[in-house]
Amino acid sequence: MDRRLETNRANWNERTPVHADSAFYDVAGFKAGRNTLKDIERAEVGDVAGKSLLHLQCHFGLDTMSWARLGARATGVDFSNAAIDLARGLNEEVGAEARFICANVYDLPGVLDEEFDIVFTSYGVLVWLPDLDRWAEVISRHLRPGGVFYLVEFHPVLTTYEPTARGDALPVYSYFRQELFIPGGEHTYAGAERIPSPNYEWQHSLGEIVTALVHAGLRLEFLHEFPYCHYQALPAMVQGADGWWRFPENNDSIPQMFSIRARKPGS
Ligand SMILES: C[S@@+](CC[C@H](N)C(=O)[O-])C[C@H]1O[C@@H](n2cnc3c(N)ncnc32)[C@H](O)[C@@H]1O
Repeated sequence: MDRRLETNRANWNERTPVHADSAFYDVAGFKAGRNTLKDIERAEVGDVAGKSLLHLQCHFGLDTMSWARLGARATGVDFSNAAIDLARGLNEEVGAEARFICANVYDLPGVLDEEFDIVFTSYGVLVWLPDLDRWAEVISRHLRPGGVFYLVEFHPVLTTYEPTARGDALPVYSYFRQELFIPGGEHTYAGAERIPSPNYEWQHSLGEIVTALVHAGLRLEFLHEFPYCHYQALPAMVQGADGWWRFPENNDSIPQMFSIRARKPGS
């Protein structure tokens, strides 16, 4: 594996137990029957009953098992062995009947020889991928003709923002493709703890994301943008009665999440 991805894998192995204990992931609620999928992806993916669904970068599988609870034949893939071990244990415990594979997304075609009705991936995945053309080719390889790819993700405009000393946020980082090295000791999104190990991240513009999918032969069905976020991405954000996080002022001025549905031609 690429040494940068090896670094990231070690970082995700460190994050996994922290996330498993966090209120953000609320594993106890999931065990009690909570479906962890948000309204956006449930509405935009549609009915999954009886369909085969491949979930890329599934972390420790709560969303994968939630799709299985809705009737999908769900397979989750992640390169963190700690996350996949935890997912398999939870799957056994709650009887969700999902399947989990420990693999680097880029290596999946060498590990799995199957096509799916749906390929799904969500919230915080693209920032970990250095090459979106290869990512899109993997998606196309694992979709049956006529199958649907669905992505819901944080908007690349949001990741250009940095909190200011005044308590608001300003766009200070480049919107366009770049590689970042994070030396370690940063907070993880799912709690107050700091993760000691370093990691690499990649910023991708919306144009780069869409173009990679089109080049891989997928036909775009929609690209939606949302002026709110599902977690407090910046300290200035406040949570509304609907559960979404927004800036307190000018709160519909920038996109914070987006979703894409694309189809592989054929039937
Ligand atoms: C932010 S999490 C995804 C969160 C997921 N939507 C959830 O709510 O749990 C990103 C995941 O991508 C995985 N990942 C990062 N790079 C990967 C790669 N190259 N191949 C497979 N998994 C990868 C990490 O291990 C991590 O579990």
